[in-house]
Amino acid sequence: MLSFLKEEGVSPGLLEGLEQFRQSNPPELPERVPVPRFHYYGRQVWEQAIAALLCGKNLLLTGDKATGKNVLAENLASAFGRPAWNVSFHVNLDAGGLMGMDTFTDGQVQFRPGPICLCARHGGFGILDEINMAKNEALAVLHSTLDFRRALDIPGYERVPISPAARFIATMNYGYAGTRELNEALASRFVVIQMPTISPENMDRLLTRSFPALRKKYRQQLGQMFFDLQKKCEGGEISPKALDLRGLLDAIDLMSAGILSGPALDMGITSKSFDSYEQGLIRDVMAARVSPKLTRAELFEP
Ligand SMILES: Nc1ncnc2c1ncn2[C@@H]1O[C@H](COP(=O)(O)OP(=O)(O)O)[C@@H](O)[C@H]1O
Ligand SMILES: [Mg+2]
Repeated sequence: MLSFLKEEGVSPGLLEGLEQFRQSNPPELPERVPVPRFHYYGRQVWEQAIAALLCGKNLLLTGDKATGKNVLAENLASAFGRPAWNVSFHVNLDAGGLMGMDTFTDGQVQFRPGPICLCARHGGFGILDEINMAKNEALAVLHSTLDFRRALDIPGYERVPISPAARFIATMNYGYAGTRELNEALASRFVVIQMPTISPENMDRLLTRSFPALRKKYRQQLGQMFFDLQKKCEGGEISPKALDLRGLLDAIDLMSAGILSGPALDMGITSKSFDSYEQGLIRDVMAARVSPKLTRAELFEP
């Protein structure tokens, strides 16, 4: 991870800070430290995120779908060498699900710690995924965790101090159905990075890494196709449903499994719109870059 960050061009001062952090916080629960399958590409975001976490801040990553929020959060836990707990927020999440609750085992009442409690104890990185999916009332319990008090206040229990190595990284996307506004009290406890769409150069690196056998010509065409969709989206001609990098990667996976380019792009991208007129527009934009009849043998090196 550290050599990747060097390659990425992250400033030496921050890398030194990272090294110091790792030395002054003894490793815990190594099996929980993520080993990332993908790297996040984007030097500026990396620098902002590392600086914020070194300053002891909690981080809120906001942005559209598939801008790498979860990939970055996991990469950060890995770079800082900390165990990670991922908590998916949803409408029914409550204080017990976050902090822990009493359970009845072997004829005894025992406290079973929740993910926030475990982060506090072990200096973990808590990834609060889609934080704005939960009800704001359920989140009030996080206030003392996230501010200067750095303690868990669980009603009926002792105050649990938070390890100096613990950090919280929340993700949110305000577009989705079911999301809420994050209330100001909670938002003020984070520093925020608005996640940009991947740059064309980094798109090329991502596709090269993900699909080493994809021929350069098609790698470039598929990348450009994504940015064409982005332009149409910004111009309001098509809705953001079709702008889905995750869907593009899925489509290329399907092509490598032998599906023709056209149907593969339909499955990954076009069919996420349920409006046949819009589907036609999306197909036209895509066909202008990438023929829909490409076979696996044409797309990939043997
Ligand atoms: N800047 C980036 N660098 C590397 N991968 C990226 C980047 N942006 C998006 N991706 C890719 O997009 C996909 C979705 O990433 P994810 O972190 O799940 O998105 P989000 O949580 O923002 O919806 C992953 O395959 C990821 O590798
Ligand atoms: Mg996500």
